[in-house]
This record gives sequence, C-alpha cells and structure tokens, in this order.
Amino acid sequence: MPDAIIVEGLVKKYGRLIALDGLDLTVPEGTVTALLGPNGAGKTTTVRVLTTLLTPDSGRATVAGIDVLRQPQRLRAHIGASGQYAAVDEYLTGFENLEMVGRLYHLGVARSKERARELLDRFRLSDAADRPVKGYSGGMRRRLDLAGALVANPPVLFLDEPTTGLDPRARLDLWDVIEELVAGGTTLLLTTQYMEEADRLADAIAVIDHGRVIARGTADELKAMVGGDRIELTVDHVDRLEVARAALAPLAVGEIHLEPGLRRITVPVSDGSQALVDAIGRLSAHEVTIQDVGLRRPSLDDVFLTLTGHDAGELINGDGPGAALEQATEGSR
Ligand SMILES: Nc1ncnc2c1ncn2[C@@H]1O[C@H](COP(=O)(O)OP(=O)(O)OP(=O)(O)O)[C@@H](O)[C@H]1O
Ligand SMILES: [Mg+2]
Repeated sequence: MPDAIIVEGLVKKYGRLIALDGLDLTVPEGTVTALLGPNGAGKTTTVRVLTTLLTPDSGRATVAGIDVLRQPQRLRAHIGASGQYAAVDEYLTGFENLEMVGRLYHLGVARSKERARELLDRFRLSDAADRPVKGYSGGMRRRLDLAGALVANPPVLFLDEPTTGLDPRARLDLWDVIEELVAGGTTLLLTTQYMEEADRLADAIAVIDHGRVIARGTADELKAMVGGDRIELTVDHVDRLEVARAALAPLAVGEIHLEPGLRRITVPVSDGSQALVDAIGRLSAHEVTIQDVGLRRPSLDDVFLTLTGHDAGELINGDGPGAALEQATEGSR
C-alpha cells in the first residue's frame, strides 16, 4: 500500500522554541494514524504544516502524492481539515457555512446545497441548520467544523482533536462517521488526547513528545512495550501514599506512580493475582487502609507515562501555553 502521507525531518521553530524537531511520519493510504502527545508536543503544528497553513523551517512532506511545500495550492483541493478550535463563520447559519465550503471546493450551487443538507443531517445539526452559528454551543460548532472538513469528500483528512469538547453521544456519532469514511478508503491523520479514541479508531499510533515521534505501533504493540499488569490502589488518606509506596516497592517491576489528588498508587507487577494478594498483605502490615483496589492490563496511559515521563492525566486539560496563541492565530481557514 502506498503512503498517503510522508513526513521527513520536519523542523519548525518559534524563535528559540523548537516545536517540531525532525519529525518523521508515514501514513499508508486508507488507514488511520493517531498522533498522541501531551500539551505542546507539536501535534497541532504538524497538522498545520501538512494542511499548508504553516511553513516549516526544514524537512519535507508529501500528501496524496503532492509536495506540501512546493504545491500548497494544488494540495488544498485534495485534503480536508478540521482545526483544534472550530473555524466557522459566526454570522452565517450552519447551512450557509457548509454551502460556502462547497463553493470554495467548486462543487457547484446545487451540489453544495445538497451536500450541506446531507452533512447537517449526519452530524445531527438539521434542527439548527438555519440558525446563525453565533447561537450554537461549543459542541455544535465543533460538529459543524468537522462537517466542513468532509464537504468535498477529500481522500486525505486531518482532524486535530476532533472529539475534544463533544458530549459522549456526539463522540460516538463521530467515531461512527470516521469508521464509515475509512471503510470508504479515506486516509486519516488525527490528533487526540484520549487513549480510548486512539485505541478504537487508529490502525497505528505515533506517540509524539517535544516535536519528535518517540514510539510508533498499534495500541497492542505499544501496550506490550510497557509490559506487566498494574495494581491500582486507593488509600484512605493522602499522607499514607508514601508509606504504601515503600511497602509495595519490592513487588514493582517498573516505576511506581502516585496520584496524590486521587489518593491513588499504581504499581506495575509481573504476576498479577499473586502480587495483588501480596500487596494487600503488605499494606495491612503497614497499617495502610485501602479504599479500593484493582488489577488491570496496561493502558495507553501507562504507555505514555513510561515513554514520556508525563502523566497522561496531565493531558486532559487542553490549556497549554500554546493554546491561547493558537486561538489567536487559528481564526481563519
Ligand atoms: N504561533 C506560535 N508561536 C509561538 N509558539 C508556538 C506557536 N504555536 C505553537 N507554539 C509552541 O510550539 C509547541 C508545539 O505546539 P502545538 O500547538 O503544536 O502542540 P500540541 O501538541 O498541539 O498541544 P495541545 O495538546 O496543547 O494542543 C508548544 O510549545 C507551543 O507553545
Ligand atoms: Mg494542539
């Protein structure tokens, strides 16, 4: 299968800050790759370069066989993109927004209207179709922006955090839409902070941090890299966490992780059920009261933690230092 997206040695600097530091990536045609990384890792920067919105300092990129840097104009007709922050016209209705995108892609008047109706229906926005976007909720804008990316049925699609800010129902809907698109042959690069989303949708996951891909594989491959089961314990008081850590250290086959806010301690172990019995015995010997205990397989969060040293929990709040800047610069498509 040929690669629909090829990225080689992409570098992007903002003054002294290196946002992309020699990023390499390939996405085979008709597959989904998720870029997974903490705030500021370079996900949005990558998407902006590949969608011609940003010029890198060096490196090469080809999308759908077209050189991104040499033929940006030509490329735009072959891709669809939706940004991290919805780029929709406040004063137009939902219908008018999509119709306008259709015209920009030269679909013609009739086809543009038809496509707008189809997509409004698919994203459950038909009832709001004729209202100005000004009165839409955040999730509705997000869905409208995503619909915009699909108007021209582009063979390659870039979605930057497509489900951030969507309610659970809208998220499931979007997953269905994405699965249909991919079944139809669309190539997709998406960024996400949700491990379950990468798990469910992506054929391959590229973990990025500090502007480089630090690991790549299927969700299962990445989980296998970190190995072992996890014992997860909640103690009755945050002060007891350090005692628990010391008591459980002999059982750990990797780094023990503490989440003081949740009074939680996670311990990677080799023989899960035996280790669980041992752990409970050790904690009771140290007079640590356990509120909740469980054994689980490694999650992508663990992968993250192991590879980057960042807690995946830090991922959920999307207000990195880059966020405000992007909001300021990402108003137009
Ligand atoms: N316009 C800009 N000017 C200066 N620095 C920027 C700009 N855009 C991004 N950066 C910086 O580049 C780095 C990468 O940012 P980027 O937005 O690509 O990260 P991200 O992975 O999308 O993060 P998030 O999960 O918060 O969306 C960050 O350190 C960010 O602060
Ligand atoms: Mg981003």
